[in-house]
Amino acid sequence: MQKDFNLPPKKVRENDLEPTPLPTDGFELSLRPKRLAEFIGQEGLKANLSIFLQAAQQRKEPIDHVLLYGPPGLGKTTLAHIIANEMDAKVHITSGPAIERPGDLVGVLTNLEPGAVLFIDEIHRLSRTVEEYLYPAMEDFKIDILIGKGPAATSVRMDTPRFTVIGATTRQGLLTGPLRDRFGIIAHFQYYDKAALFEIITRSAGILGYPISSDGAEEIARRSRGTPRIANRLLRRVRDFAQVEGRESIDKQIADKACLALEVDQSGLDRIDRTILRLMIERYRGGPVGLDTIAASTGEDATTIEDVYEPYLIQMGMLHRTQRGRVVTELAYKHLGLKVPKSLQNLTEAEEES
Ligand SMILES: Nc1ncnc2c1ncn2[C@@H]1O[C@H](COP(=O)(O)OP(=O)(O)OP(=O)(O)O)[C@@H](O)[C@H]1O
Ligand SMILES: [Mg+2]
Repeated sequence: MQKDFNLPPKKVRENDLEPTPLPTDGFELSLRPKRLAEFIGQEGLKANLSIFLQAAQQRKEPIDHVLLYGPPGLGKTTLAHIIANEMDAKVHITSGPAIERPGDLVGVLTNLEPGAVLFIDEIHRLSRTVEEYLYPAMEDFKIDILIGKGPAATSVRMDTPRFTVIGATTRQGLLTGPLRDRFGIIAHFQYYDKAALFEIITRSAGILGYPISSDGAEEIARRSRGTPRIANRLLRRVRDFAQVEGRESIDKQIADKACLALEVDQSGLDRIDRTILRLMIERYRGGPVGLDTIAASTGEDATTIEDVYEPYLIQMGMLHRTQRGRVVTELAYKHLGLKVPKSLQNLTEAEEES
């Protein structure tokens, strides 16, 4: 059983899993695939998208508006750039919170080239007023501009060039119905499987120029919580360990050692994941516990828990969401090496024990 929870806390990866804006360092950029064919995994999504791209190209039209949603680090920003690249379109980057007033949006829209892609990150954070202005632009490529003030103000309708909105969000649920309905293509990202992560890690190690064995790549893949961004980050940290120890390549042994030091366990859970589970078990008998209570007791932000930690714990089958709050499962007890309470044990296991 996993016991490394008891290791002394290390200040290594406090904000490691936070959603990050566009990476600025050249290395991160070079890891980003540029073409759809280089984009690993998400096969269903990719297959559909490639049809929509081809069809739009044949018609010589911009592709329909695309909404990308899924947990942080799964490749939404990367795919948005790929779509623009494949369409040979100029890409303008903005985000929900950056467009504060309708005037900001008007400024952006009237400066677009025909066929351009407008990438709106965190689109669920657009203000309602700005959203209202975006609707006619997305639907009819028209925007209403208010001229003058007070009762004398008049509204003028202006054309925008035909363009494509690519919206990215970690929370489809926070998008208003009318906004969601204006996207012709909705792409839902899934966590990556081991094979896809393996490929991503091998590719990245190649770009880094550090040899990696298959068992090394497998080990990092296992601990990457289904997320390419974490896979790349772990790879870089493992490389640091390998390099300092003077190893010529990354293997399972050094990957294990680095991950132990980083407190990332064999299922990819980090210290905060384990703190959440342990707290729910020890203080709330496994739940149900409300999100805000979990946030307050762990000192983490509720949004971060909901966006980053919880989806993976649910995916791993260690946590459930119920009407009354979050509950941990049998697997969570087992993962932490704790005794599973009678109420959670299923019959066969109860029999085994007696
Ligand atoms: N399918 C993929 N193949 C190879 N690398 C990938 C893939 N998807 C993502 N990556 C890598 O993972 C990193 C994170 O991806 P990206 O920034 O696109 O995630 P995101 O979904 O936009 O995250 P956030 O919600 O935090 O904005 C990228 O820099 C890229 O190197
Ligand atoms: Mg992004």
